[in-house]
Amino acid sequence: MSANQFTDMLAPGIHRHSDKNSWMLVTKHSTYAVGITSEGLLLQLYWGTRLPNFADLPEAQIPHERSSHDVALTLAREEFPAFGGLRYGELAAEALFADGTRDMDLRYQDAEIGERQGLPELRLHLRDAIYPFEVILSYRVDSENDLIIRSASFTNTGKEPIVLKKAFSAVWHLPQQFEQRRLTTLAGQWAQETLVQQRPIVADTVQIESRKGIPGSNAYPWFAIDTQANEHQGEVYFGTIAWSGSWNLRVSTRVSGETAIAGGINEHDFAWILTANQSFETPDFIAGFARNGFNGTRQRMHRYVREHVLPQPQANQPRPVLYNSWEATTFDVTEEGQSKLAERAATLGVELFVIDDGWFPARIHDRAGLGDWRVDPQKFPRGLRPLVERVHELGMQFGIWVEPEMVNPDSDLYRAHPDWIYYFPERPRSEARNQLVLNVGRKDVQEYLIGLLDPLIGDHGVSFIKWDMNRPLSEPGWPEYVQSGHDAREIWVRHVQGVYTIMDTLRARHPQLSIESCSGGGSRADLGILTRTDQVWSSDNTHPDARLFIQEGISHILPGRTMGAWVTDTPSDRVWNEIPLRYRFHVSMMGMLGIGGHLLHWSDEDMAEARIWIDAYKQIRHIVQDGEQHWLVSPTASQGTWAAVECLTPDAREAVAFAYRRTNPFWNTTPPLRFQGLQPDARYRIKTMGQSETPAIELSGATLMHQGLTLPLGRSSYASCILHIQQI
Ligand code: GLA
Repeated sequence: MSANQFTDMLAPGIHRHSDKNSWMLVTKHSTYAVGITSEGLLLQLYWGTRLPNFADLPEAQIPHERSSHDVALTLAREEFPAFGGLRYGELAAEALFADGTRDMDLRYQDAEIGERQGLPELRLHLRDAIYPFEVILSYRVDSENDLIIRSASFTNTGKEPIVLKKAFSAVWHLPQQFEQRRLTTLAGQWAQETLVQQRPIVADTVQIESRKGIPGSNAYPWFAIDTQANEHQGEVYFGTIAWSGSWNLRVSTRVSGETAIAGGINEHDFAWILTANQSFETPDFIAGFARNGFNGTRQRMHRYVREHVLPQPQANQPRPVLYNSWEATTFDVTEEGQSKLAERAATLGVELFVIDDGWFPARIHDRAGLGDWRVDPQKFPRGLRPLVERVHELGMQFGIWVEPEMVNPDSDLYRAHPDWIYYFPERPRSEARNQLVLNVGRKDVQEYLIGLLDPLIGDHGVSFIKWDMNRPLSEPGWPEYVQSGHDAREIWVRHVQGVYTIMDTLRARHPQLSIESCSGGGSRADLGILTRTDQVWSSDNTHPDARLFIQEGISHILPGRTMGAWVTDTPSDRVWNEIPLRYRFHVSMMGMLGIGGHLLHWSDEDMAEARIWIDAYKQIRHIVQDGEQHWLVSPTASQGTWAAVECLTPDAREAVAFAYRRTNPFWNTTPPLRFQGLQPDARYRIKTMGQSETPAIELSGATLMHQGLTLPLGRSSYASCILHIQQI
């Protein structure tokens, strides 16, 4: 960016226009501008395609009121509108002051520059005109990925307590426009997560949320708003809230064409008491702008997650092929049974063996045992060490399942500490899956869990934990906290902070540890949890037909290296028909490959074939886990009949394409597969993986992208192939 006559560059990507009291956040392809009005209000001035000249931007001004019903403050594009005065649009904050005043009046004070997450940061300080209350708005600029990362921090600078009633992370405004926009969200339920939903935007408010204390599977905290965009073209605004608890995202559109997006921690049953000098910090709300369609948004999110979210150094290491014994043995876990599975897994080339639920006392079904994180002496008379040693001898890492936030009423922990859960003294304690939720906001509960999990990891050489969370919070009470003068509505946040604290402590003590976030599948797969976990279990549904939809949905946010995908058995009590092993592998190989089938039941042919695919996966995982992901054929668009995904190294020298044709009821030829992102003039060698007898062919990048490639899929249902493409 060349120097601009009126602007100073304060940090890379952060410019200030001194005459106009405004700031421009400039990324590779976008500009985001905010400014201060003469009254000291902070307004958004622009968000969209990068502008060559900041001096052209307007000054910040409150618009004229349209009528006494359409008042100026509501029409203003305020960056952080707080409940107060004539504000009736989306709000970011609400507070109750000690004298009963519930109205806020935030005015600009000053600005500073900093750095966080390795990104330059602009901090704008606002202060209430009367009350001792400060808000610092943080804007971090990820220039490469055209993202702005926003959060807010609230401080009580006085003596009397202040109750925060709503503390969103940000409000974003889109340019006023009459041309039809479209909203894309992800919806689901257990075993049916992250399904793409699209609807035209009309003048109303759309709200997606979770009130469960976890992000939940009913919606993912993400949105995209486009104007006639497709996969590779068109303007898309998009964003996600990095929070592992209850969240709320609202998209409000006025009949006059203005759209605002507000989001953060759900205000439902939320309160946070700020006593003297205390601060409260919101989670990040990450948002961006792309002109190259949904694929443009996907690449930006994937890079951001790899570069700024996932824990290091694991984020730069290949994710291992794992075996998980849950579907094979459920609660019937023994040293002998697990050793046999481990031996079979090792012969396939599996690198991480994970023992799932059922290894702790009384855990012969899901009605007992949660909370007592000790090795069951009946199932493991010699302890867990001999099994771990066997797994290590076989050349694999060892992983184990835990569900730390939970307790079964039938457990030693609950018998000793019935007050360690959320409860209201006079109400029944609602169970789900026979379990109750531990109050991990309590320090003693955190210490108890760290006290058991730390030696479980350290003494046993555990490299990986699958951290599960199988029910939402209910009866969110904490009587002891209330008795000591606090507000128990804080638990929605304190629970998440408690989980983060435990995970952060375990990771700090065991730097090589990896964690998988599971919540009955994909109910906790947000970027907050991914700051301290390495991957997510995207769904308990491993049916490949379902998986194509689920994996397409989650790919809008998460890169391949985070998306757990297992090959399981068919037919089974969940997948009623037989599906070729090859097809099941091919669907799982586009993510973080795992095996979940009962290997002792696999035939020699199955084992031989599995070896071929695991070996193939290791050859391409650098592209799958860290490359660009392009959905060449959307399963949603094809109504599940077919799908194709291409993964590509950033230098476009190597790619891999997965193609799936589930069914072809009208005997049509499958259209040639047209690739994306290759170098047009370069020559590429194309090899069908797993079929050494098929000769490689050579074609130019241009031919592959424009004419396309006829796929070797034959005529049957559940036909699939993987093509490995290398520049010559
Ligand atoms: C949840 C998980 C499964 C498995 C079971 C164990 O349902 O999603 O993968 O770990 O718990 O009880």
